[in-house]
Amino acid sequence: MKALILAGGAGTRLRPITHTRAKQLVPVANTPILFRGIEAMVEAGITEIGVVVGDTRAEMRAAIGDGSQFGSDVEVTYIEQDAPLGLAHCVSIARDFLGDDDFVMYLGDNMLEQGLVAFVDAFAAARSAPRPPSAQILLKQVKDPQRFGIAVLDDHGHAIQLVEKPEVPPSNYALVGVYLFDKSIHEAVAAIEPSARGELEITDAIQWLIDHDLKVRTEILTGWWIDTGKLTPLLEANRLILETIETRVDGAVDGASFLDGRVIVEAGAEIVNSTIRGPVAIGARTRIVDSFVGPFSAIGADCEVVHSEIEHSVVMDGSKIIEIPRLEDSLIGSDAIVSRSKRKPRAVRLMVGDHCRIDIE
Ligand code: TTP
Repeated sequence: MKALILAGGAGTRLRPITHTRAKQLVPVANTPILFRGIEAMVEAGITEIGVVVGDTRAEMRAAIGDGSQFGSDVEVTYIEQDAPLGLAHCVSIARDFLGDDDFVMYLGDNMLEQGLVAFVDAFAAARSAPRPPSAQILLKQVKDPQRFGIAVLDDHGHAIQLVEKPEVPPSNYALVGVYLFDKSIHEAVAAIEPSARGELEITDAIQWLIDHDLKVRTEILTGWWIDTGKLTPLLEANRLILETIETRVDGAVDGASFLDGRVIVEAGAEIVNSTIRGPVAIGARTRIVDSFVGPFSAIGADCEVVHSEIEHSVVMDGSKIIEIPRLEDSLIGSDAIVSRSKRKPRAVRLMVGDHCRIDIE
């Protein structure tokens, strides 16, 4: 079995971060989102991994490399997508890489609490049965099915209909961003037309399989699933991953500081006269001085937090938070400066890039 990880796309919902970086490489608890997906593939025994890349291809190649950091037998093949023409378009451009093999398709900005081992094994087992399924989709029961692609199931748990963002939802089973396919998906992808938004939709391709009497197996996810492509779910993913960390202090903590709960302090980091209330992750060489860092915060490497309070936030590498009385629910990109000066007259002075969001108390 092979893996196809989709790491292109436009990422408009996470601007301005996505003006300069891939949303799949935004750190959650100080590890890029996509790395957890790759690790889940490797854990499920998949070592041939195709990564679909778009405008951020250079950044992807720099971060993932040849894949050997994920296992000595892992081999990564990059598949270039000129424009984000849809999830099914990604399957069609990966045709040579995939050959006739079964594969897992994984949306690179999605995060799952559960690993993939059970799902991959269940598909492999079902594939050796008399009338094997051609695809397997993962579903999660949601409270707001209007926002998702939704599946309708028959009595045997097979999908019989897929509907995109229905006004009157026929079920509450949302499609999670992990799909397993056999080679029939290539015929389906070749047969479908672009949707109203101009994309080749994977839901249309799966519906084509159903309409051609091919079986689409389903598995219901019990753990959490987050599509991290927007600010609020990204902070939620950061919170959920931080919930699982264990304390590790490799940096320096002075006698006037206090670490409470589970806290990671990476090597070279310095905590001076500050309180860190976990779960919190502090990156390498970062300085926290006269500050409070509260639960569910991840501060990247080479940052400075001075005389400030931060909670429930992600701060990426190289940023400075200076004299800020309270920062919450925030995502700060890399090499940013958020500061309060004593200059008179008192005023908010900004240099704000395109599509930024600023919410002042
Ligand atoms: P989406 O989040 O659905 O699309 P997007 O990245 O264009 O984001 P936005 O709607 O905010 O503009 O994509 C899901 C995943 O699939 C994500 O990791 C990007 C990837 N993708 C591709 O690689 N190629 C594509 O053509 C599309 C549509 C998505």
